[in-house]
Order: sequence, then structure tokens, then C-alpha cells
Amino acid sequence: QQPVITDKFGRVLQDLRISVTDRCNFRCRYCMPREIFGKDFAFLPKDHLLTFEEIERLANTFLNLGVKKIRLTGGEPLLRKDLAILIRKLASLDGLEDIGLTTNGVLLGKMAKTLKEAGLKRVNVSLDALDDKTFMEINDSKVPSHTVIQSIQQAKEAGLTIKVNMVVKKGMNDHEILKMANYFKKMDITLRFIEFMDVGQSNGWDFKHVVTKKEIHDMIAQEHDIEPVDPEYIGEVAKRYKYRGTDTEVGFITSVSESFCSSCTRARIAADGHFYTCLFAGTGFNLKELMRNGMTDKELKNTIINRWQNREDRYSDERTEETAKNRKKIEMSYIGG
Ligand code: GTP
Ligand code: 5AD
Ligand code: SF4
Ligand code: SF4
Repeated sequence: QQPVITDKFGRVLQDLRISVTDRCNFRCRYCMPREIFGKDFAFLPKDHLLTFEEIERLANTFLNLGVKKIRLTGGEPLLRKDLAILIRKLASLDGLEDIGLTTNGVLLGKMAKTLKEAGLKRVNVSLDALDDKTFMEINDSKVPSHTVIQSIQQAKEAGLTIKVNMVVKKGMNDHEILKMANYFKKMDITLRFIEFMDVGQSNGWDFKHVVTKKEIHDMIAQEHDIEPVDPEYIGEVAKRYKYRGTDTEVGFITSVSESFCSSCTRARIAADGHFYTCLFAGTGFNLKELMRNGMTDKELKNTIINRWQNREDRYSDERTEETAKNRKKIEMSYIGG
């Protein structure tokens, strides 16, 4: 019998997102702009990162509290040395039903087979444009889109289930929306359009940069017949659609225009072991320090229960110009999206 831990609004603790590094081999303009994340930026030193043993201990604790889904993120998670070893350990834990990874795809191609063999089931690959000029302006790392496409193909061949994530920002890549939809429809891969969010302090977000689900939906509906698909479970992040007469899906992640906080079941662990109960939280809770100071399993469990039971986060429901500008928030590269 699995325990059900609920927060102040009755939301069950069900998913865990673990960031395994705060580093990335991209410098996406909207996430890690080079002016801030340059040569002198102080990334976490190695001994501040959770070890694999610590991650496994935390994962196990969360699974004992009712978590069923684990997603590894970063930064870029494939930069973490020996990640497949961690995946193998996590995939074998009791109670785990689903394990996924969110990556920019650069290193995915050559690692796909190893990751799959280690027990990984799903990868979500970020790709914001097909056009190289646009894509390279975004990633600011001279990586062309075919590098990511090739990785997607290799991941597919390795037997991984793939979704593609496209963050849409007005004036940045909205001209690529239809092209991306057509391309991934043809490949029979789910593409999800993500409304640009005000995460962190350095991405210069403004409401006027957001292209809403409705706008994107209407653009696609002019060329394609798409129909809504019922959610598979409560708390699903994307609003799903499919191309009529096919099983190919397309989705929308509507954190801005239709926030989904009321069904948010996600806990997050940053690369340095801080526990966050919202992507937009200002402060986290240092579980690593407690573990390194000899906290028992029971104490660790009770601490997590206590934090979750006191959870009141609903940032996307509350978002205004004011909160977007003035609220202190953690960076996406650190918390892992
Ligand atoms: P699936 O398990 O495949 O559904 O993955 P996912 O969509 O939960 O994870 P992914 O890492 O692919 O995230 C896609 C986008 O959704 C990213 O931009 C995330 O930042 C965003 N996202 C995921 N969870 C939340 C959340 O709880 N709140 C908000 N505001 N955005 C989220
Ligand atoms: N708004 C929306 N999505 C974002 N991501 C990174 N920054 C933002 C943002 N400001 C996306 C990445 C990746 C996922 C983890 O989050 O592109 O697909
Ligand atoms: Fe880009 Fe993702 Fe890296 Fe941020 S973490 S810079 S969104 S690839
Ligand atoms: Fe969950 Fe916070 Fe996102 Fe709302 S804004 S869905 S509470 S992570």
C-alpha cells in the first residue's frame, strides 16, 4: 500500500524531477545568456553536487512516499559523467513506473543505446527551430539543427520513446512553428510547444514575448485537422491533440495562458540537493547537508513529508507583470525545468 502525501491544496506528491548538473553545452539566449553564464560564472563545484549514492537515497525515499515518475534534468544531464550508471541504479528501484530524461540532444545520439540498456524509457529533446540561422542564434553555441535531429533518429533506433519540446518566443522562432509541426508529424514524433516562461532572473521575460497556445493552435489548425486527446492521468503537463485519422500527437504546455498549478504533483531536487516544491520557488531546502550530517532515513522521510504538506506554491496561477519582474526565482539551468 503506497502512502499518499498531499499538500495544502490536496495535490499528491507523485513526480520527482532531479537535476544532475547545473552546466550546459548550450547557452540558449532565453535560459543561460552568455553575458551572465560566461567564463567567469561560478557553477557548482563538484563536491557540491549530489553523489549518485545520495541521488539514489533520495529517489528511494521519494518512491517510498508515493512518487512513481522520475525525470532527470539539468542543465544538460548528459554532461554528468557516467549518467548511465545512475540510470541503471534508479531504474531498478522498487515502485518506479516511469523514468525519463530531458536533454538538448547534442550528446544523445552516441549515448542513446547505452541509456536504453541502462533502463531509460523516455527522452524529451529540446529543439527550438529547424532553420540553422535561427537555431544557432538561440543556442549561441554553433550547433546546427541536424545534430539534434540525428540524435533523435538514433534515440528512436535505440528504442527510446521521444517527445520534442519547442519553447516559442515571439520574434525569436514563431516563424518556425508550422515547419516544426509538419516535420515532426511526418516523423510521427510528438512535438510540444512550450509557452515562454519567466523562470529565473536572467531571461528578460515579458508578457509580450509569449505566443499563446491559442495562437499556435490556430496556426496549425489552418493546415491540419487536429482534435483534443484526453489526458492520461491527473497532472499531465501538456494539453494533447492528435492529427485526425492518425496516432501522431502534438501538444501545448500552457504555463502562462492556462496555468496548471491546481494539478501540480511535481517535486524538484536541484543539482546541489536543494528540495523545491515549485519551478518558480525563491528558496529551497538543503537536503544534501542534512544527509551529509548523518540524518537517518526516517528523519529524511519526515522532513520531505513536512515540506510537502506545507506546500502552497501556485506561481503560474498568480503570475502578473509585478511577480515576473520582482519575485526572486531560481535559474532554470540549476533547478532543471
Ligand atoms: P512528460 O513526463 O513527458 O510529460 O515530461 P514533462 O513535460 O513533465 O517534462 P519536460 O522536461 O519535457 O518539460 C517540458 C516543459 O514543461 C518545460 O518547459 C518545463 O519547464 C515545463 N514544466 C514541467 N513541469 C512544470 C511545472 O510543474 N510547472 C511549470 N510551470 N512548467 C513545467
Ligand atoms: N520557458 C519555457 N521553457 C523553457 N525551457 C527553458 N527555459 C524556458 C523558459 N524560459 C525549456 C527547455 C527544455 C525544458 C526543460 O524547459 O527548452 O525543453
Ligand atoms: Fe538551453 Fe536547456 Fe541548456 Fe538552458 S539547460 S541553455 S534551455 S539547452
Ligand atoms: Fe507547479 Fe509551480 Fe509550475 Fe504551478 S508554477 S505548475 S506550482 S511548478
